[in-house]
Amino acid sequence: MSDLVAPAFALPRVSTPRAVLFDAYGTLFDVYSVAELAEALFPGQGQVLSVLWRDKQIEYTRLVTTCNHGAHYQPFSELTRAALVFAIKKIVDGAYPERATGQFFVNFGAQIEQLLAQYQRLKAFPENLAVLQALKRHGIATGILSNGDSAMLHAAVQSAGLTGLLAHVVSVDAVRRFKTHPEAYALGEKALGLPAPEILFVSSNAWDALGATWHGYTTLWVNRYHLPFEELGIQPTRTGTSLGDVLDFFPDLSVSIS
Ligand code: LAC
Repeated sequence: MSDLVAPAFALPRVSTPRAVLFDAYGTLFDVYSVAELAEALFPGQGQVLSVLWRDKQIEYTRLVTTCNHGAHYQPFSELTRAALVFAIKKIVDGAYPERATGQFFVNFGAQIEQLLAQYQRLKAFPENLAVLQALKRHGIATGILSNGDSAMLHAAVQSAGLTGLLAHVVSVDAVRRFKTHPEAYALGEKALGLPAPEILFVSSNAWDALGATWHGYTTLWVNRYHLPFEELGIQPTRTGTSLGDVLDFFPDLSVSIS
């Protein structure tokens, strides 16, 4: 990869952040990398399954956070399993009319376990390692603030070879509220001991970049898939296309990653 620094005039001016917090799923780890295994298990439907799975997983986080003041909370790993079961039921609809019974799990239990195991070792985006190493070299505090529960986050960090590069691995499980709940975003400020504007929050999920911006973080939306941003009247501090764009927030950090 070449030097990713964009022309300075193109970037909104911001004070140099004192720390960087990353979203995990979709930002550091490629949630759609499960599509390959999904395709092997459900030929012709791997891509659709991985998108359905992700969308339902996020929908469930919102349901359990907003209904009855969080009384229905379940950890992200449980919601991830539930969302996968839903997604498989949806794509096999018709072919397996017995899906509503225990027979569904007899037919698909092995595939469910294989896909969940794969979720523990999602691929990291290729530029991540060099960006995290550059931040560490320059003494910039880094961490994850994620909906994922601690066990799955640590497994993902380790499997992606990022151990030791993220000083804080913060799970919203501590407050049993998923992002975009304010208590979830506040965990990042607490962990780093800094107010939100002094922290750069990085997410590839537009809804998360929006929530973090509303919370007061300085934000970078990593728009990996050339999508429009949310149409709710506010923009992230900056928009980029890869994690390398984090480095542009640090004028003294004139490194090029390769
Ligand atoms: C995360 C998911 C939601 O918080 O992207 O890591």
